[in-house]
Amino acid sequence: MNDLPTDRPLRTVRSFVRRQGRTTPSQEKGFTQYSADFLLSIANGSLDFAATFGRTAPVVLEIGIGNGDTLLHLAEGNPDRDYIGIEVHRPGVGRVLVEIGQRSLPNVRLFAEDAIDVLKQCIPDASLDGVLLFFPDPWHKKKHHKRRIVQASFAALVGSKLKRGGYLHMATDWEHYAEQMMEVMSAESGFCNQAGAGAFSARPEGSRPFTRFEKRGERLGHGVWDLIFEKL
Ligand SMILES: C[S@@+](CC[C@H](N)C(=O)[O-])C[C@H]1O[C@@H](n2cnc3c(N)ncnc32)[C@H](O)[C@@H]1O
Repeated sequence: MNDLPTDRPLRTVRSFVRRQGRTTPSQEKGFTQYSADFLLSIANGSLDFAATFGRTAPVVLEIGIGNGDTLLHLAEGNPDRDYIGIEVHRPGVGRVLVEIGQRSLPNVRLFAEDAIDVLKQCIPDASLDGVLLFFPDPWHKKKHHKRRIVQASFAALVGSKLKRGGYLHMATDWEHYAEQMMEVMSAESGFCNQAGAGAFSARPEGSRPFTRFEKRGERLGHGVWDLIFEKL
């Protein structure tokens, strides 16, 4: 007979495996010096954007900011918008904290936690103007596809957090994942594909800077697929 305890929560499939990467002294300094001003925590529950940023402005959230190049570029170039960046890899967050602090960017906040938990527990419904997901881990092997962050449940969750007219912009350099993104998003009734049914978007100038990650992909001969879906 199977005597599994009934009170143990089911293991959740996550879109990442925490890497052991060492946090450098400079990245650690990012946490000690700038956490109080720029790092948010799930433990504090649902966010009040006006209180968090000290003003009312459009809010764009980026999932999996990596080393933060995109987030920093967008926040610096769009001072009239507020940005929330989420990344599970602690060294990356430490680096971005240093940059935000040194550049004195008042319109950025970070979470060093799982974006799914942040969306569910901290982001009010119908509150976001945009969600960005650039080059999410592709989980190439078929047996790992369940780890891909873009699934029907993700599309529904993001849809619930976007305002009407808000957008989800995704990009990937892995064709099979691009096709999966298209399939998932096209099946989600609350969205409309800005490029037309089944079509990928042209690379939007300005709203997706050319990062080191993409340059590397280009050198390796990878294609890039953009998808932009508007919340109805
Ligand atoms: C391939 S990297 C791309 C980074 C960046 N977007 C870029 O374009 O250079 C994917 C990033 O997503 C992060 N990530 C994966 N799943 C995540 C999740 N559920 N919440 C937050 N970050 C996540 C990983 O740690 C990794 O840094």
